[in-house]
Amino acid sequence: MTRHLLRDDDLTPAEQAEILDLAIELKKDRWAQKPLEGPQTVAVIFDKSSTRTRVSFAVGIADLGGSPLIISTANSQLGGKETPSDTARVLERQVAAIVWRTYAQAGLEEMARGTRVPVVNALSDDFHPCQLLADLLTIREHKGELKGLTLSFFGDGRSNMAHSYVLAGVTAGMHVRVAAPDDYAPRADVIADAERIAAETGGSVTLVADPEVAASGADVVVTDTWVSMGKEEEKIARIRDLGGFKVTSELMTSAADDAIFIHCLPADRGYEVDAEVIDGPQSVVWDEAENRLHAQKALLVWLLRQG
Ligand code: CP
Ligand code: NVA
Repeated sequence: MTRHLLRDDDLTPAEQAEILDLAIELKKDRWAQKPLEGPQTVAVIFDKSSTRTRVSFAVGIADLGGSPLIISTANSQLGGKETPSDTARVLERQVAAIVWRTYAQAGLEEMARGTRVPVVNALSDDFHPCQLLADLLTIREHKGELKGLTLSFFGDGRSNMAHSYVLAGVTAGMHVRVAAPDDYAPRADVIADAERIAAETGGSVTLVADPEVAASGADVVVTDTWVSMGKEEEKIARIRDLGGFKVTSELMTSAADDAIFIHCLPADRGYEVDAEVIDGPQSVVWDEAENRLHAQKALLVWLLRQG
């Protein structure tokens, strides 16, 4: 059966761990696996801007022996005259997989229903599961075992990143804390799904109003931009509302002594995180950005094996 990665909980705990193990192997030997040799093509479609996702998929697909086809929706029929399902039916005759960065999760679901090749969410308004595979790989490299670690997220708890930390974190058996104002709390259905997964993995998800309490003893401190793509018109309100949830050096002192700081990037220094933190010794953001490559290659290898 064709498998897709549309949201983080599309992977079981065992599948997530298997992909991370494979990513570690591929990081040691970048050209060890060539499932796309031929070359087969992978379509990588962008409705929104990107640096890391674009580069890491293009390089990763080439590493796997394949040919990346980078498509901007601004000059394709998708999003204008053509539906995701018709696009999927056209693409599946020619490509091995479809990777799509878009706005609505519903579009990705429609694309996946319409095709027999794997569809990968390269960021939607709701989730960013590729980033989470890279983040979990980075945390594993720096901390070892994921199960039992505490990850504390600060800021826009309704962002794609916060939702993905909640779902992927509990899938890995982590304790995920979200510190956000009430109006920026994660969606209730995402929390409910996370609680169901946590009951199975021994992880947990907790909403914490006080940032100091959320940071206390944390192994991993994380934030995301306060102004996600598509939310630009809310910038002033968001800076006002989220100001108390900035990751500062002082907040980092509440975390574990050996805590690491991660951020998916791009970052707005001085807003969601102070420069001293993101550019300081606890920050592993450049490892995290590199790990997009290794994690996504492992994901593609794994998805192509399932078909
Ligand atoms: N983190 C991330 O997805 O970065 P890009 O927007 O540059 O792809
Ligand atoms: N939440 C951010 C993540 C960017 C990688 C956004 O959607 O813009």
